[in-house]
Amino acid sequence: MIVINCIGAGHWGPNLIKVFTTIPDVRVNLACDTSQERLDLVRQRIPGIAGFTQDANRAIEDDEADAVIIATPVHTHSDLALKALNAGKHVFVEKPLCKTSAEGQALVEAAERNARLLCVGHVFLFNNAIRGIRNLIRRGELGRILYLHATRTNLGPVRSDVNALWDLASHDLSIFNYWLQAQPLTVSAHGASLLNADIEDVVVAGFRYPDGINAYVHASWLNPRKVREIIVTSQ
Ligand SMILES: NC(=O)c1ccc[n+]([C@@H]2O[C@H](COP(=O)([O-])OP(=O)(O)OC[C@H]3O[C@@H](n4cnc5c(N)ncnc54)[C@H](O)[C@@H]3O)[C@@H](O)[C@H]2O)c1
Repeated sequence: MIVINCIGAGHWGPNLIKVFTTIPDVRVNLACDTSQERLDLVRQRIPGIAGFTQDANRAIEDDEADAVIIATPVHTHSDLALKALNAGKHVFVEKPLCKTSAEGQALVEAAERNARLLCVGHVFLFNNAIRGIRNLIRRGELGRILYLHATRTNLGPVRSDVNALWDLASHDLSIFNYWLQAQPLTVSAHGASLLNADIEDVVVAGFRYPDGINAYVHASWLNPRKVREIIVTSQ
């Protein structure tokens, strides 16, 4: 039996909690959120959770738990994940992992030091269409990739701790890296902060990969049209 505690029961967290409660041999011991209202909602909607707490430290230090799931706002990820790794828990953190590369490096080092798994919720890497395209690329059935172009737009949800690139394009970047089995050599991005100062709501970014492959993303939470599209151009 694998015992997990889930921290964060806002918009996304309950989806994770629900999935974990349906996996055989997994038990959700504690659901945690600072909001009692969110906990009450989860208690009503999702059966099979042993306990509830508003205290993240209790969820992290719980001796019964093997792993901690973190689905809180991004600015809290680094602190909560570091505490959980240092408490000897395996950790799943929602995307994006954290706010800076220094924080990310510290988390990777903590996972290695404590011999624990650190996973990021790059959910599209488990999507059958994304995996199917990866197989086509690997088998050479698409020929030579010329460039990739992703559009990820919607009206909201507007974030206040990270911009649209970090919030939305983190999915596309995970997909590009997976398909190309590489990381970008260079990154350029241009954004506009329209609703809140210094938080870009609309971003256009370009990633240059090895073999001269370019990948582009248009990410926006200020667009009346919900689009989830990736175009692969090859010859
Ligand atoms: N994979 C996906 O497709 C997907 C979709 C949506 C959100 N997400 C990610 O999930 C994470 C959460 O996003 P959201 O939309 O659910 O945000 P949200 O603001 O709706 O919910 C966050 C919840 O965390 C709680 N919280 C904040 N700090 C806390 C703390 N220290 N201890 C306990 N609870 C705390 C808040 O009360 C809130 O209920 C983000 O990283 C986001 O990028 C992923």
